Formats: sequence, C-alpha cells, structure tokens
Amino acid sequence: MERKWWHDSVVYQIYPRSFNDSNGDGIGDLVGIIEKLDYLKELGIDVIWLSPVYDSPNDDNGYDIRDYEAIMDEFGTMADFDRLLDQAHERGIKIVMDLVVNHSSDEHAWFAESRKSKDNPYRDYYIWRSAHEDGTLPNNWGSIFSGPAWELDEATNEYYLHLFSKKQPDLNWENEKLRQEVYQMITRWLDRGIDGFRMDVINLISKTPGLPDATVPPGALYGEGGQHYINGPRIHEFLKEMNDASFGNYDVLTVGEMPGATTEDAILYTDPARKEVNMVFTFEHMDLDSGPGGKWDVQPFDLQKLKQNFTKWQVALHEKGWNSLYWNNHDQPRVVSRFGEDTTYRVESAKMLATLLHLLKGTPYIYQGEEIGMTNVAFESIEEYEDIEIRNMWKERTEQGASPAELLRSIHVKGRDNARTPIQWDATEHGGFTTGTPWLKVNPNYPTINVEKALQDPDSIFYYYKQLIALRHQHDLIVYGEYALILEDAPHIYAYTRTYENQTWYIYCSFATEDTIVPVTHDSSDRVIGNYSDAPHVTDEQLTLRPYEAIVYRTHH
Ligand code: NOJ
Repeated sequence: MERKWWHDSVVYQIYPRSFNDSNGDGIGDLVGIIEKLDYLKELGIDVIWLSPVYDSPNDDNGYDIRDYEAIMDEFGTMADFDRLLDQAHERGIKIVMDLVVNHSSDEHAWFAESRKSKDNPYRDYYIWRSAHEDGTLPNNWGSIFSGPAWELDEATNEYYLHLFSKKQPDLNWENEKLRQEVYQMITRWLDRGIDGFRMDVINLISKTPGLPDATVPPGALYGEGGQHYINGPRIHEFLKEMNDASFGNYDVLTVGEMPGATTEDAILYTDPARKEVNMVFTFEHMDLDSGPGGKWDVQPFDLQKLKQNFTKWQVALHEKGWNSLYWNNHDQPRVVSRFGEDTTYRVESAKMLATLLHLLKGTPYIYQGEEIGMTNVAFESIEEYEDIEIRNMWKERTEQGASPAELLRSIHVKGRDNARTPIQWDATEHGGFTTGTPWLKVNPNYPTINVEKALQDPDSIFYYYKQLIALRHQHDLIVYGEYALILEDAPHIYAYTRTYENQTWYIYCSFATEDTIVPVTHDSSDRVIGNYSDAPHVTDEQLTLRPYEAIVYRTHH
C-alpha cells in the first residue's frame, strides 16, 4: 500500500467551545487555541481536528451551520483563523476542519430561501414533503435527537426532514446544484490551506428514494429510519464525486464519521483505489455498552466483546483500507470512566487504555483532556446540562413517565456533556479555563486533575501519551505491522501481537483490579513501554500483571 503522511500521524481533537477562553466570555475561542499550540507541540501530535468553528446559532454547538464560510463570533474572526492555521503550520501541526453537510442550520441563507415558497430556486436544496391525506407525517422516522424527523413549516404548509434537531434541516443530496455548491465550498477551504476534513455523519447523506416508512422496534415511538439513510443507495457515488471534485486534488486527510458502517462498508469507503475517503470512524466499539433500547439503555462493559470487535476491524482492513482509532470524542463519555477505573486506578487505567489503542494499526485520535485522564462528570440537576440530545431526551422521556433519577443515572454514564466540560488547565477557579463564567460547569475534580499538574509530574498520563506518540513516529511496526489477538479467552486481559519484518511486539493490557497471571512463550527481556515504574514479575512461563497494568515486549526473529 502506498505510504501516506496520515499513516503515522496522531490527531488531537479540539472542541473549541471547551478548550481555552482567551477573552473571559466563558466560551473557548481561536485565540485560546493559539495560546495552547506549544502545549500540543510538547505532546507531539501531528494534526488538530477542529470541531466546527463556523458561524452558527449553536442549537447543537456549531454542528448547525449558518454560514460555511464565516467564523462563529464567539470564536473570533477569519483573521484569527488564518493566524491559527499559520501558527500551527509553523510548528509542523496540520489542521483538519469539520465538514457538516448532511444538514445545515435552519438559519442558513439556503434554508431561508427554501422555506419561502414551493417554487423558490432553493426549495429543492432541502427535503420537503406534504402530510399524507389523513394528516399523518410524511413517514414514521424518528429524529436522532428525539421526536419525529419531520417539522411543519407554516409558510408552505409542508414538512421538512431533520434527522437531528429541528434547527438542522437535512440537505437534499439528490440535487446536483446543491452538491456542486458543497464541493466548491470545500475547495475554497482547501485553497485557504487547511489539511483535510472530518466529515460529520457523512454516510447519512443518501436517502432511499420515496423515503419509505421504517420498521418500528417493539416499544419504540418511531421507525428506525436508519434503514433508509445509513449507507444509502447513492453514498459511494456521492463520495467519489466529492473526492473527484474537491479533496481528491489535494494531499489531505479525510475521515468520514460513519454510524452503522460495518467492516465490509469500511473497506469500500477506504480502499485507496476507490477514491472515496481515507478512513472512517466506526461506532461499533462505542455501542458495546448499549442495550436494545439504544444509547441510554446502559449495559455493563464486556471486554470479550471489545476484543472481538477490535480484532475484526484490525484483521478486515489490513492491507485493504485504513482504520481510525479512538476512545473519545465530543459525543462520547470519558474513556477512563467508561472502560477504565476513574478513582483508585485512574492513572494506571488511563495509561493502559492509551497503550491498548495507540499500538493498534490505524490513525489514533486523542480527544482534548484525554491526555490528562479527565473523567465523566455527574451534575445533580438536569438544568446544569446544555446538550440538546440530553435535553430533548429528558423532555420526551419524562413526559412518557420515565423516572427522572434513572434518566439522570444514564446521563451520568452516557451523556455527551461528559466530554464537553471545559479543559482543566490548572487548580485556579474554573480550572483556569476562563476568567468569566464557563458556558458549561467545570468538572469539580479540577484541583487534582489538571494540565499544570500533569506537566510537573514526569509519571503523568500526559508524558505517557507523549511516549506513545513518539513510539509511533519511530516504528514502522506500529504503523504497518500485522495484528493478531492472543490469549483470546483470558477474561480480564486484552493481549495482542504486532509483527513486521523481523520483529514481534507483545502487548498485554489488564482490565483486572487484582494481580492476574498469564502464560508467556516468548523472551521478555526487552521491555518497550509499561505503565508501572518497575518491571512486572515475569518468568519463562508466566507473567503477573498488576491491576490495570500494560506492558509491551519486543522480540526479534
Ligand atoms: C455528529 C456530531 O459529532 C455530533 O456532535 C452532532 O450532534 C451530529 N453529528 C449532528 O451534526
């Protein structure tokens, strides 16, 4: 496979609203990011993925875009953006933007036109339908943010489709003119000098013609519309067309956020010969702790399932496509609270999870705060939450009679605001994030978990991430080596090998809170990295892993 710069890159995701506030309005901003570029350089990352910074009324914190070619006022100006891009490039850091084109804001100029009349030239940029004769909605799909996926617009007495909030109407990708406008917009950003795109729910843009009703799962209020828009009929055609018309002409990184993409789909999306995208974000490992009732139906974490899932992706895409690797993003709870242990073994388990992910094959993504082991937050009242997904779900389910205490419990475990509390820079008020009042409360554990402390402690999670990033830059084995699962049936251990040319690395990760003995068959004299300061007890036959221990051995053959 031809080598690409993004093969051995590590990406760091910034959620600008929560990163660093430079002007005291309680909202992070672009100048705040510029102030922290040296911090990111110290960590050693290669690429920043910026969550949306475009002009937006912030119904969904920037994922509802009013103007694709302007910067959100709260974040700064286009001049600030250009300065950020220059200053990052000066430090050898690339910048990838978020591309949100499944939908726009309802305040976008296209939608303002579209809703005016049925014969407006922009009418067909969105998906409009009238009610059925009996007055029922155009179809039975539910919105991903609760309620129906259709909203009535009184001006023309028709409904528009919104897979997300009412303020995020879906763009009509069947419309050739809309597609061309999007490609031109992408090209203008690339010409500005950016280094690629993370493409928001990009595998939802092609809907089944006729928008048929979907099956309604038992007990559900709405049909599972995903049957008719996930990996829809024209998705590969659209991506190929977009690639040809825009980013395919530049040496940039593209990663498609793709809920519901299987390994078979991912091979089609990422096979370099097909010229669609470089890699996708799968959701399969993020769904392992959800039950049949969906995301809020919280299930215990099952390590065996995680092992099987990662192994499936590692093996299936080897030499055929490319994986992206992530534990966290702005939509997911904090991994140390989710799959690790965020009290006694917070440091050990955060480092162990980092080891597990960063030695896999693919491009790793670190989400802001992960590198200092930030944890989930548990606000006591629903009023303290800002996220539209949480608020809509709360309203719908309390109206149906669900127990508020139970809902709050699932929000504590799964809510997106877990990831969105401001970055804890130091032990001063509001964690040093702002001199004003933060838009979302800072996690109260900021006096103990913060960047300043991490930078002062040579054994911190931060410096461990730094080592893992450096290892990837030094070793082709991590980037290109073959993966194999070992100790498949060990209930609390995830162990695997990576093999390249004449070397094999053995990676052992313990999820147990007690010592665990595993058999070994290889030489254990060459230790690459581990999360305890001293070596574990190992003989020719067995290795004793301490709680949440991660250890990596290298052998030559
Ligand atoms: C996925 C984004 O990551 C999420 O934050 C957003 O709410 C939806 N797409 C809609 O844009």
